[in-house]
Amino acid sequence: MTQQQRPDRRDPNSVGEQTWSVHGGNHAPGSDAEGSAIRVPITMANSYRLPEDPSTMDWSNPEHLTYTRNTGVNQIALQNKLAALEHGADAVALASGVAALHAVFFGHVSVGDHVVVADATYEATYKLWTSLLPRKYGIEATFVDIADLDAVRAAMRPNTKLVITEVIANPTTKVADVAALAEIAHAGGALLMVDSTFTPPPLFRPLDHGADLVVHSLTKYINGHGDAMGGAVIGDAEAVDPIRSEAMVDVGGVISPFNAWLIMRGSVTLPLRLRQHQASALELARFLEADERIAYVAYPGLESHPQHATAVRQFGGDGPEAGFGGIMAFALKGDPDLQNRFVSALRVITSAVSVGHDESLIVHVGTTGPRVAAYPDGFREYGHLRFSVGLEDVADLRADLASALDAAFG
Ligand SMILES: Cc1ncc(COP(=O)(O)O)c(C=O)c1O
Repeated sequence: MTQQQRPDRRDPNSVGEQTWSVHGGNHAPGSDAEGSAIRVPITMANSYRLPEDPSTMDWSNPEHLTYTRNTGVNQIALQNKLAALEHGADAVALASGVAALHAVFFGHVSVGDHVVVADATYEATYKLWTSLLPRKYGIEATFVDIADLDAVRAAMRPNTKLVITEVIANPTTKVADVAALAEIAHAGGALLMVDSTFTPPPLFRPLDHGADLVVHSLTKYINGHGDAMGGAVIGDAEAVDPIRSEAMVDVGGVISPFNAWLIMRGSVTLPLRLRQHQASALELARFLEADERIAYVAYPGLESHPQHATAVRQFGGDGPEAGFGGIMAFALKGDPDLQNRFVSALRVITSAVSVGHDESLIVHVGTTGPRVAAYPDGFREYGHLRFSVGLEDVADLRADLASALDAAFG
């Protein structure tokens, strides 16, 4: 914000990240918020009354309220907030992160097309591109090491429509250079789709670095409280249009108004939560790495991380929003029984899937499975513990890790 500018809580460009996170999106068309309610109320209605003369309706306007599979008060509020959060012109909110990923693929790729996909991604992306979409629609996918830009360039074909990556990969934490990938995708006439679930704004904004479409599992940091699922796609109107009209309205993976409302509420504290997640994660990653019983720690904030320099350049500056996310993977030096004994001995950190919640979550994944071949050596030898650092006191988390390590090694 410049000094002369008067802050306006509705304008993300004139206020700070946290001010806007509190106020942004609280004024949706059709909501009572313009009247007296200071928050957009939950509107659990399947349909909205049409005008006296329905022929005056602009059916193509996504903000014209008709039917909840097309749009709704709470969906609009959330979409407006997400678009502004990611510096995008448009957003579509869907039922889950996977619904959002599928919506991009369904909306932008057709029979005979080709995509380039990062070799380490969330499981569903891998499954969609190794099995479901090639088998059902005849779309070809080439998997590449996304940190090897020459390999990405070499994988491009004349019919490549999308390059698909995560900013920080689940579970290996490999970091993608988004600007470099955007250049390669665009030179080949393709779009770059970035799943930014591990790096929500204000930490990183892929559209500012040349990406065309950003996907979030809202289930994770943006909601942040482990009580609602959702997904979103953000980009310019041209890129988002087919996702809204084909994948949401016609295929129907719409988010419920209640979940949209919960996620909207959760998102209010996103910048504050991120600061805590990141500060604790860096401290715990260093703590674990210094312990000789630990085989490896994969966290982009550590100097030992292979893409540490890329991570620093993209999101690890000096400002209050800088950091490396709250998720790491590590393993103890030992067999799966030892890893499991460690998890069983934890008393503060919960053993459960998902990431980005208020509570710390850990999940042990072994060394078998089709994707493991693409993982780094340590992951292949020991498996990994994916650790999502929560908002508990970092001293409690450190003590929990320390006593579980002692218990595991007996
Ligand atoms: C990076 C990433 N993208 C997408 C998803 C899918 O999100 P959801 O579980 O909301 O469908 C996940 C889930 O863990 C994820 O980690």
